[in-house]
Amino acid sequence: MGDKTLEGKTTRRGFLAGGAAAAAGAALVPAAAKAEGDPAILNLPSWTQELGAGVDAAPYGMPSKYEAHVVRRNVPWLTADSVSSINFTPLHELDGIITPNGVCFERHHSGVAEVDPAEYRLMINGLVDRELVFTLDDLKRFPRHNRVYFLECAANSGMEWRGAQLNGCQFTHGMIHNVMYTGVLLKDLLNEAGVKGSAKWVLPEGADAAGMTRSVPLEKAMDDCMIAFKMNGEALRPEQGYPARLVVPGWEGNMWVKWIRRLEVGDMPWHHREETSKYTDLLANGKARRFTWEMDAKSVVTNPSPQAPITHGKGPTVLTGVAWSGRGTIPRVDVTIDGGITWHEARVDGPSLPMSMHRFYYEFNWDGKPMLIQSRAHDSTGYVQPTKDALRKVRGESSIYHNNGIQTWAVNANGEAENVEIS
Ligand code: MTE
Ligand code: CO
Repeated sequence: MGDKTLEGKTTRRGFLAGGAAAAAGAALVPAAAKAEGDPAILNLPSWTQELGAGVDAAPYGMPSKYEAHVVRRNVPWLTADSVSSINFTPLHELDGIITPNGVCFERHHSGVAEVDPAEYRLMINGLVDRELVFTLDDLKRFPRHNRVYFLECAANSGMEWRGAQLNGCQFTHGMIHNVMYTGVLLKDLLNEAGVKGSAKWVLPEGADAAGMTRSVPLEKAMDDCMIAFKMNGEALRPEQGYPARLVVPGWEGNMWVKWIRRLEVGDMPWHHREETSKYTDLLANGKARRFTWEMDAKSVVTNPSPQAPITHGKGPTVLTGVAWSGRGTIPRVDVTIDGGITWHEARVDGPSLPMSMHRFYYEFNWDGKPMLIQSRAHDSTGYVQPTKDALRKVRGESSIYHNNGIQTWAVNANGEAENVEIS
């Protein structure tokens, strides 16, 4: 692998001296397995010789026992207590664009509220003509909409501001999930209540012990926000806000209030009325960026990556990853396997929906030599994902939030990957 500098950065020059970049091949047909000497094809497997479980064995189905390693994981040293903590989506084990409900990362300030749906209520009060209280059944009598959106915590990749730290895209990029929500438009509920002319903000409040409050500009609330009660077709999971949560498309995760209980319509945000409840980004000069709600375009290669090494050796290889933007769709993703000396346009496959994850692939013939792998997303506004160094020039290194810099994986000749930075 390339030279490591004192800061632990791998230099591009060192990489070039250390090994040639792999060449992309034309026909990528993997060699077929041979029957000769392979017991897995020559012998009748045990599961062919006995009856399997009946249809009543698993009323609610679970993944194969061989997939037991596909789980959310946390980083114990990050937080003092698991009730005010975060875990991470196993991005390297997933494909397509939808995050299965059981592995959507969780972020709670005071643990999971166990809300009884029969006693669930949503109140709209404040600067409205009629203060209203809805039951869950009331909400289901408004027109329903199905929308696929990513939710990314503003702190995603926050541990990487000062340099490469965590070995795995689950940990560097896993504070994100992408789900199809079914719910009602917030504007339909607000119109039912009648918003007064002086109103400027909607102040959602959660029913968890944190009583989480956030401030959403009225304009966004009347645009595409939803009150969702289904995720990927089934009821929201308790961890994701059962029975209802606020959906704030493209905007940072902390505004998506779970177990939503009240929406106050006001003329001022909460953080002007009390101590701030809004995240800010601290800059090098000590000043802070405040209203950074939209999530900037970002991408990461999920395979290969530190938790998902290449195990098949050289030859036909599928590189894949995900890209997203809080401002629209992802018309293009570039990938490099030689640390940015040459870039290739990846193949985006699957639905391309605004403010949703996109799946990309790059198929190539690996020559078995070390690689420096990166991906770079372009969004529909023309914005291009920046390098980490370019971000640091603007934002310094004291930030925690909104790190959308380009990720690098160094892959060695054995196919093992490591989180590095190159300069
Ligand atoms: N809503 C409530 N009521 N309580 C919370 O602690 N955490 C917020 C947001 N909504 C939170 C909440 C944060 S910081 C994030 S990133 C998202 O929920 C995480 O959503 P998830 O748990 O579905 O991944
Ligand atoms: Co968050």
